[in-house]
Amino acid sequence: METIRIALLGAGTVGRALVELLPQHQARFEGLDLKVELAKVLVRDANKSRPGIPGRILSHQVEGFLHDVDVLVEVAGGTTQAGEVVLEALEAGIPVVSANKALLAERWEELRTYAEEGQLYYEASVMAGTPVLGALQSLWGNQTLELNGIVNGTCSYIIRRMEEGRAYAEAFEEAGALGYLEADPNLDVGGIDAAHKLTVLARLTVDPGLPWEQVRARTRGISHLTPQMLAEAHAEGQAVRLVASLYPENGAWVATVRTVKLPLNHALVTMGSGRNALVYQGDPIGELVFAGAGAGGGVTASAVLSDLYKVFLGTPGHLPIPAALPMPKTEVERLEEV
Ligand SMILES: NC(=O)c1ccc[n+]([C@@H]2O[C@H](COP(=O)([O-])OP(=O)(O)OC[C@H]3O[C@@H](n4cnc5c(N)ncnc54)[C@H](OP(=O)(O)O)[C@@H]3O)[C@@H](O)[C@H]2O)c1
Repeated sequence: METIRIALLGAGTVGRALVELLPQHQARFEGLDLKVELAKVLVRDANKSRPGIPGRILSHQVEGFLHDVDVLVEVAGGTTQAGEVVLEALEAGIPVVSANKALLAERWEELRTYAEEGQLYYEASVMAGTPVLGALQSLWGNQTLELNGIVNGTCSYIIRRMEEGRAYAEAFEEAGALGYLEADPNLDVGGIDAAHKLTVLARLTVDPGLPWEQVRARTRGISHLTPQMLAEAHAEGQAVRLVASLYPENGAWVATVRTVKLPLNHALVTMGSGRNALVYQGDPIGELVFAGAGAGGGVTASAVLSDLYKVFLGTPGHLPIPAALPMPKTEVERLEEV
């Protein structure tokens, strides 16, 4: 029986949930003739109590962390230290499973070659456990026409509370009290998190080299919204949502995040209530709708674990589309920005 030694970077919401899930899969691993071992865990504070993680495998020291391991799971977040460890692993030929969309979006130039070699697995980075990346890779036989998604649940929560009459500041505070906001709330309400995810989606579907800066430049958040704007839209039979979109315009692919008006019966409004949703339009396949939980420890860890199964089976990771997709012959109708 082969032993696979996992190095886990980060034991917060997602890392802890993965540590809880792994023992439940031991019998299945044995069925694959594998012994899967959590070998090392790297955190900021190694003195914190971490149920299920023996103190002897916990460390805050990067040195030696990747020595004698077979796969790195990166669920720390951020673009600096996590990036260094991920790159060190990839350079050493160690496959990496990551949930970190910020890293993937912003340091793609360094990561791209490894992704193209199938060494990078990142299903959990977009829509958490809802497997859109794998599905989008299965759509290369189509001409992508357009993609629109609600991919940040925190913004959806704040907007829904404002639809119920709360002021923006009040709804924002509520989201914070419920633990929905990132440590830097601008990642959520400034649209940056959604833009990170859109960048990952775009590189799988239309352009493997889409620069992050280009998406960042066309990203707006939700802080300009007022309950009155939302009520007026509602009176017209429309809902305002923060939507990440990918579409052709004047012969180029545009990736943008901004608030738009959608008909109340639009799939993003109906399917995206309280969860994430993505609507893909392609030719000849037509419209596809994906919806499911977009956050949560267990949900996200389930996608990380599914990626680990791929690593164990020798299946390649998430490959960017091999070359930029030609522009579709017709352009789609624009959503009305608010
Ligand atoms: N939470 C979700 O629902 C969700 C969904 C999809 C994707 N993700 C992504 O998954 C990743 C992890 O999210 P999370 O919610 O689990 O974050 P979290 O709860 O804040 O946990 C982060 C963990 O990483 C460790 N860490 C952070 N920086 C580190 C550093 N420089 N060196 C060593 N350890 C470091 C922290 O150590 P300490 O414990 O010592 O502070 C903590 O254990 C992020 O990239 C996030 O975007 C999260």
